[in-house]
Amino acid sequence: MKRHPGLVPLSHEHRQVLFIAQVIRRGAARYRGAPATTAEKLTYARQSLTALALPHMQREEDILFPAVRGRDDVVDALIAVLITEHRRITADIATLHDDEVDAATLEERLNALGILIETHVRREERALFQRLQTVLADEALRELGEQWRAASAGSMCFLEGEA
Ligand SMILES: [Fe+2]
Ligand SMILES: [Fe+2]
Repeated sequence: MKRHPGLVPLSHEHRQVLFIAQVIRRGAARYRGAPATTAEKLTYARQSLTALALPHMQREEDILFPAVRGRDDVVDALIAVLITEHRRITADIATLHDDEVDAATLEERLNALGILIETHVRREERALFQRLQTVLADEALRELGEQWRAASAGSMCFLEGEA
C-alpha cells in the first residue's frame, strides 16, 4: 500500500532511524566514512540516537498516538506494544552512556539495540501505518502530517544525505 501523504514525514524519519539501526548492528555493511569499530559505533549511536530517535519517539507519543487512539481496537493494541518498546529502547540508549563496559558487551548491546529499533520501526510501518490508512479518514491523516511537520521543523536535518 502506498504511504498516505500525511504519513510521509513520519516514514521519512523512519528511514533515517532504520539507517542508524543498521549501522550499529554487528557485521553491518561497510561504506566509506561509516563507523566501523565498536568504539566508533558507540559514539555514532550516542549522538544520532539522542538527536533523532529520542525526539522521534517523543513526537509519536505527543502527536501520533493521541491523534489516533480510541478509534480502533487493533490500533490501540499496537500503541500499547509500541509504547512498551519505546521504554525499552530509551532505557537501552541510556545504557550506552555506562562507563567501563568491555568491548564484547558493548558490541552485543549495540547489536541488540539495532535489532530492537529495526523491529519496532517495521512494526510501525507495516502494522500501525497500514492499519491507520484503512481506518482513518483522509482528512485526519493530512491533519496528522501537518501537526508532525510543525513539531519537527528543523530537527531532522543532519542525516538528510544519508537516508
Ligand atoms: Fe516508535
Ligand atoms: Fe517511529
